[in-house]
Order: sequence, then C-alpha cells, then structure tokens
Amino acid sequence: MIGIPLQIGPVRLESNLMLAPIAGWCDLAWRVTTRELGGVGLASTDLLNPRGLLCSSETSLDLACTSDLDQPIGMQLYGADPAMLAEGARWCVDHGATVVDINMGCPVDKVCKEDGGSRLMCMPETAVEIVRQVRAAMPDRVPLTAKMRLGWTEEDAKRNAAGDLACRLVDEGVACITVQGRTTEQRFKGASCREGIRRVVEAVAGRTGSYTGEPGRGVPVVGNGDVKSPDAVLTMLRETGCAGVMIGRGAFGLPWIFRLAWGAQLRALGGTHPDENIDSMGEPSEAEKIEIVRRYFDRMCEFRDVPYALHQLRQKITRLGKSINGSHCRPLKEGIRVAKTQSEVHAALESWEILMRETAPQQRSHPPRQGTPYPLEA
Ligand SMILES: Cc1cc2nc3c(=O)[nH]c(=O)nc-3n(C[C@H](O)[C@H](O)[C@H](O)COP(=O)(O)O)c2cc1C
Repeated sequence: MIGIPLQIGPVRLESNLMLAPIAGWCDLAWRVTTRELGGVGLASTDLLNPRGLLCSSETSLDLACTSDLDQPIGMQLYGADPAMLAEGARWCVDHGATVVDINMGCPVDKVCKEDGGSRLMCMPETAVEIVRQVRAAMPDRVPLTAKMRLGWTEEDAKRNAAGDLACRLVDEGVACITVQGRTTEQRFKGASCREGIRRVVEAVAGRTGSYTGEPGRGVPVVGNGDVKSPDAVLTMLRETGCAGVMIGRGAFGLPWIFRLAWGAQLRALGGTHPDENIDSMGEPSEAEKIEIVRRYFDRMCEFRDVPYALHQLRQKITRLGKSINGSHCRPLKEGIRVAKTQSEVHAALESWEILMRETAPQQRSHPPRQGTPYPLEA
C-alpha cells in the first residue's frame, strides 16, 4: 500500500507512517520535533499504566502529556485487567487521545509478570475480553488499536499466532494492528521477519476483506521492526503488503526519516501526488540538523524542566549526532556533557556548528549523504 495515507476506523492520517512508542524516546518534545519535520501520520505516547492515570500519578501524567502541536496522538495502555483498561481508555479519550492502543508486545518482565504486554499473546481470551470492554467504553469516533509481536516463541510465530489473535481482535472492533516481526523471546535482537508480518496481513485480509485505504474497507496492518531508511520502508510495504510502517530506533538519529520515506513513496507512485510540499523536502542541511537538536532540547526544557532536558540530551546526543557531520561529534558530546544550563547547551551547539563549518570538508572522507541508505545502528 505505497503512498496511501492510513485510514484507522474513522480517522484518516496524513501518511502511512507512525512514530513508534519507545520508552524514553517518545516524550512530547520528541514527538513534536519529529512531527514538524513532516511525514509522521501518527505518534504515540510511552506505555501508560491505567491505574497511574486514574490516580493522577506524576509519572503517568508526564508520560501522557500532550498538546495541540501533538495531534493526532495515540495513547498506549498496558495491563491485563479489562475493567481497569476500559477506565484508562476513557481517561485517554477525555485527555485528547485520537487513538487508544493496547500493548500486547512488550517483553519486559515488569509488564509481563502482571500478564500485560506480550503475555497477552499467550492469553488470547484475556486479550479479547480487554478489547471487548475497552471498545465498549470508548466513543465510536476514537479507534482502538493493538500492537503485538509474532508470538512469544518461534513456534508461535510459525503457527501465525499473531495472525490468529489479530483476527479475533478485529472481530471485536480493533481498527488497526501493528506487528513487530519478532517474537517475545527475541526481545529486540535478531532481524525482524517480514514473512511473519506478511502472514498477519494475509490473515487479517482473509477475515475483514482486503484493506484499501478507504473508510470501512478492511483493517490496516502496520509493519514494524528494523526500518532505518526510506528504502527499508518501501521494502516493508512491498514485501509484506502492510498498509503502513512504524519506525522506532531508525528515527533516533534521523527524525526526518518520515518525510524522506513519505516522499519516496510519493515518487514511487509516479510523482503526481498532490502533496508536493512533503515530496520536495529532502535531507536537512548540517546547520538544520543542529537546529533540530536545539529545538528538541528547548522543548524538553519548556515541556518538562532544564535538569530533565540536560539529562536526556546527555544520554541521547551520541544517537542524535549520528547523522550530523558524518558522526564526528565528539567535541559536541563533550560540550553537552559539561553544560549545566540551557544557555550552555546553546553555546555548545553554536561552537559545534562553527567548528563543523570550518573543519567538515577536511574531516569528511565522503560528501554529505543525500540519499539512502542511512547507516543507523539499532
Ligand atoms: C528501549 C525500547 C523501549 C520500547 N518501549 C515501547 C513501548 O513503550 N511501547 C511499545 O509498544 N513498544 C515499545 N518498544 C518497541 C518499539 O515500539 C518497536 O516495536 C521496536 O523497537 C521495533 O521497532 P524499530 O526496529 O523500528 O525500533 C520499545 C523498544 C525499545 C528498544
């Protein structure tokens, strides 16, 4: 489904690309920064604990924080108690969720030992009951979606456990399934299996009729895992037949991947798509990339506070810097490591920009990259 914006129940997105929920890499500042670069159809919050939302725990409220600049937004819930999840979903609707997602793929012990996350793939009756109660608790205008893996084990993947569960969930009103092409046992290692995703796409199409991108015509399946370049987006769409692609780690150093990938799809359609604007936006200049880091940092300061922003930037600068100046960003990392205020971070970014302008032509063994592939590590 190349170049067709996703239709999730009654909600039409601007593209078929989603920014993945990644704990620590999907706060409001990251979502807004990524969205403004173009091509993001839907972004999602981190995992939200419904109990935390309902008792207004500070952590849950921080994770669920959104704004007008952050639309459309998926809020992702986890847990195994259908009634609690239904109440949590109502909270999400009341607090601006465009879409509510149930996590059925998280492999982390803390989540699975309470029967949430990917444990639900081993408990399909519970998963179905959750969907039944959550769907009933929400207004029709807000779609319910689910995110899963191919199964817990390789054996599950072979028997298409995800396809079976997906069919049961769409019967109960789930409007989109996202599937990561790995098992729970694989966690985040090993290649994401596109063949496994294709089998989920086929199972859902067999149940609901093929998805066409028009309202009421099939349920979309979104492919996820290891997508780190616009070419990889095209490969995922072509080889699996999926309706859209979710990108997580591939966006860490390349938050403009969405506009590149959407532009690549529009070009693959023959370049006659009306959305000229996105199609014409390519790779940012090196100065623009530094500006993106600056805006992300400033938003973390604004939406949370300076200590949070400093901590996050120190942790992330290696990945953020990966596509800037051929990743020769040691002086920038050092500047950020020692910065103690917002203006010291700005100064570090400015010095880096000046240094880069002066030294980049000699340092680089290659000219700046214009096309794909992008060598991002997981
Ligand atoms: C550190 C980390 C945290 C994650 N947190 C979440 C999460 O909160 N909710 C979720 O559905 N998936 C989570 N994921 C899974 C991602 O959404 C995605 O499915 C996975 O990283 C594969 O996609 P990618 O190869 O594009 O990163 C997380 C993954 C990582 C590596």
